[in-house]
This record gives sequence, structure tokens and C-alpha cells, in this order.
Amino acid sequence: MDRVTELYEHLWSVHGDDYAELDRSLAPRSPAMLYDVAAGLGLSADSAVLDLGSGRGNHSLELARRFGCRVYGLDLALSPLVRAESHPRVAQVNASALELPFKSGCFDLVWCRDMLVHVTDLKQVFLECKRVLKPGGRMLIFATWATELMEPAEADRLYQALAIVARNLSPEYFQGAVEQAGLHTYSVERIGSELIEYYEETDGRVSRELLRIARMRRAGARFKGLRYESASAVYHWLVYLLLGKLESVVITLRK
Ligand SMILES: C[S@@+](CC[C@H](N)C(=O)[O-])C[C@H]1O[C@@H](n2cnc3c(N)ncnc32)[C@H](O)[C@@H]1O
Repeated sequence: MDRVTELYEHLWSVHGDDYAELDRSLAPRSPAMLYDVAAGLGLSADSAVLDLGSGRGNHSLELARRFGCRVYGLDLALSPLVRAESHPRVAQVNASALELPFKSGCFDLVWCRDMLVHVTDLKQVFLECKRVLKPGGRMLIFATWATELMEPAEADRLYQALAIVARNLSPEYFQGAVEQAGLHTYSVERIGSELIEYYEETDGRVSRELLRIARMRRAGARFKGLRYESASAVYHWLVYLLLGKLESVVITLRK
């Protein structure tokens, strides 16, 4: 049998019943799984938490709501979208993770979600986190690593558009920086595309963003320029996570 005949004997079935189980959900966890991890680290109303790279502040608020803990949300660029809704246990600080404006040993937990891809000196950030943690304090990181499926040219385009430091997505470099800073790795859970599957199954977000990529390209000049390049890169980010070119990782560290 030649290669094409052999291939099509198989290909005719790919939309059929043999593959039907792939249409069934693998019951992905939601992003709220990170709060369960935090609970497992013993977070309570007595805890002091640093939300490093807090962005819009929604996780700072949710941590304070769920656990009653005191939360400092720190971000380099305090977003105008930081929710006006205030919480008596949450404070926002405008500073860099490379130089934390806190005294040593004052936090029980550093919560760091989706920001370490941007920092220019990963070891320095871990050193600062170690300094501000109490003895035995924990760090909970939601990070993204690149896999062997990520092609160099697509990585360059993505990282440039999103101000990402490429080496920070290397598992070896990342774990080396943790070790050099003297933090101990407590757990590493590679959750791959799980949370993105959750988004897609819940509200079709990735399909919608794929169509946006396609329509942006077809719309031509109206969607050209830096602003649209970064929007397109954000859409690609989710797609690359689903394709396994990027993987999400949940890491807990101990001082
Ligand atoms: C993708 S957003 C994540 C926001 C939030 N943690 C979340 O999960 O929704 C990344 C955030 O990291 C912040 N950031 C990047 N580099 C930083 C640095 N060196 N120090 C503090 N914040 C930084 C950005 O300003 C941005 O708000």
C-alpha cells in the first residue's frame, strides 16, 4: 500500500466515532484551583500576603475576601483598571519586584501569578521574595514555561510583542534561579493547558480569540500597529497554551 492510500484509510475516520471520546471534557480545574493551593499552604486571617505583579488587583481582593488575610498588591504599572472597589485588608503599592519596598521577614506568602515572564533578573526577584518572607514562609507561583514544540521564530514574535524575557520560560533557567536564590522547591505541578481548556469549555474564549486573529489579519490596515500586535500576541498566548507550545506550571517554594 502506498503512503497516500495508507494515510487516507486512517484519515477518513478522524471525524468519526473512534475519536469521539476527545469531544468529552477531561474536567479541567478552573483558575480558582490556585486558591485551593494557597489554602493548602495554611493561609488564614492572620497571614500577610504579597501579591507580586498584582495587575488589576482582582486576585488581591479575592485573597482578602476568601481568607480574611492582609494583602499588599504590588505592581510596576498600577493599572487604571485597578478595581475602584476597595477592601479594608488590601493595599496597592507601585514598585518593582526587583526592589521591594518592605522590610525583611514580614510576609507569610508571596503570591505571584503570571508575571515572572517579564522580569529582567529572575534570581534578584527570588532573592527579594526570600528577604521579605518570614522564616518558613511560602511562595506560590503561577508560571508559564515554553516546550520543545515552540518554534524560535514564533517565540521571538510573541515575546517581543509582550515584553517577555525568553530565558524566564526555560524550566532549567527558572529552577536554577530559584536554587541560586536559596529558596526550596516544595512542589511543581505542570498543569499544561488545563486552565485554558476550562476557559474554552466555559465560554469559548480560545475559539473566539482564534477568530479574532483571523479577522484581524483579513481586516488589513485597520488592525496594524504596535497596539494590535500585542493584542494579537495575547490571543496567540492562549492558543499556544492549548497547542502545548507553552505550558502552565504551579510552583510552591519555601524559605
Ligand atoms: C499578565 S499581568 C498579571 C496580573 C495578575 N497577577 C493576574 O494574574 O491577573 C503581569 C503584571 O506584572 C506586572 N509586572 C511586570 N514586571 C513587573 C515588575 N518588575 N515588578 C512588578 N510588577 C511587574 C505588569 O505590570 C502586569 O500588571
